[in-house]
Amino acid sequence: MGLANIYKDYFDVGAAVNPRVIESGGELIKSEFNSVTCENEMKFASVHPKEGEYTFEQADKVVNFALANNLKMRGHTLVWHNQTGDWLFKGDDGSYTDKETLYSRMREHITTVVKRYAGKVYCWDVVNEAVSDKDEVSFDFPLREDSPYFTVTGSMDYLIKAFNYAYEADPNARLFYNDYNTENPNKREKIRFLLKCIKERAPVHGIGLQAHYDIYFDAEELQKSIDVFSALGLDIHITELDVSIYKHDERGVDFAVPPDDRMAMQAELYDKIFAILRKNRDKISSVTFWGLNDGVSWLNGFPVKRKNYPLLFDRDGNPKAAYERVTKF
Ligand code: GLA
Repeated sequence: MGLANIYKDYFDVGAAVNPRVIESGGELIKSEFNSVTCENEMKFASVHPKEGEYTFEQADKVVNFALANNLKMRGHTLVWHNQTGDWLFKGDDGSYTDKETLYSRMREHITTVVKRYAGKVYCWDVVNEAVSDKDEVSFDFPLREDSPYFTVTGSMDYLIKAFNYAYEADPNARLFYNDYNTENPNKREKIRFLLKCIKERAPVHGIGLQAHYDIYFDAEELQKSIDVFSALGLDIHITELDVSIYKHDERGVDFAVPPDDRMAMQAELYDKIFAILRKNRDKISSVTFWGLNDGVSWLNGFPVKRKNYPLLFDRDGNPKAAYERVTKF
């Protein structure tokens, strides 16, 4: 009995995958999960590298795998300041374009991508990571300034337009705002303020809590985020769950073999996280891990290159102690 089956009365359980992972780990995906997200294949730079040029082959492979195996498909992501071609924001002379040009390019992109997968992708992370991490940014003005979307538009209008364009393209899709550090009290409040504003002017159905945690994370903060965002009437998805065995700023440490004490802390934290998720099943409809097994996690390359062990399956695809904890309740 896989995770998705064990959690069938609670929420969907998914993994971020790519065509390579599907080839090597397809059986594990099918036996454990009922939802998938493209790790990189639907991002702007992947599907739309140049103006007028779309490349959907890799994304299609994942979508076709999902359809063939009756897995739900999450869409990730339409508007993000990373992994997006510079051309979107620039004119022929290399300087920033005016905002009307950006809006019409955004609309064209969102319409093309969302319509292509309408009926196949049931929800979209429409906007990813638009909120600033800086503590001193005022609550009235929560946006990150290092985003070219912000440089060109100078306001939160670009989010409102993004949600409206996505809705026009597929009125049946569930539309999400997705971000990290959503359990940081300061950032949580800024995101809450932003979502409250844009919900009045655009269809926003949910929030994606990325949930990139480490073993020192205080799980009580997750409960607070669930409370704050569901009070806005938003559905909650956990979109990118992993638990690093290193503290975020702990550089220069690289365990070739995972230490027992850290793996025990990880199992303990996963247990706590899933107890909270189960308790809030009326507010949470999907939980996705960012990767299939420890060997293919992005955390082996971020924030530095080193071996990490953040997921429920080890490098051979075997369930870890954390898996045992989250499946026995
Ligand atoms: C962010 C993005 C994801 C992915 C992860 C790390 O959280 O939303 O698409 O890039 O970082 O891989």
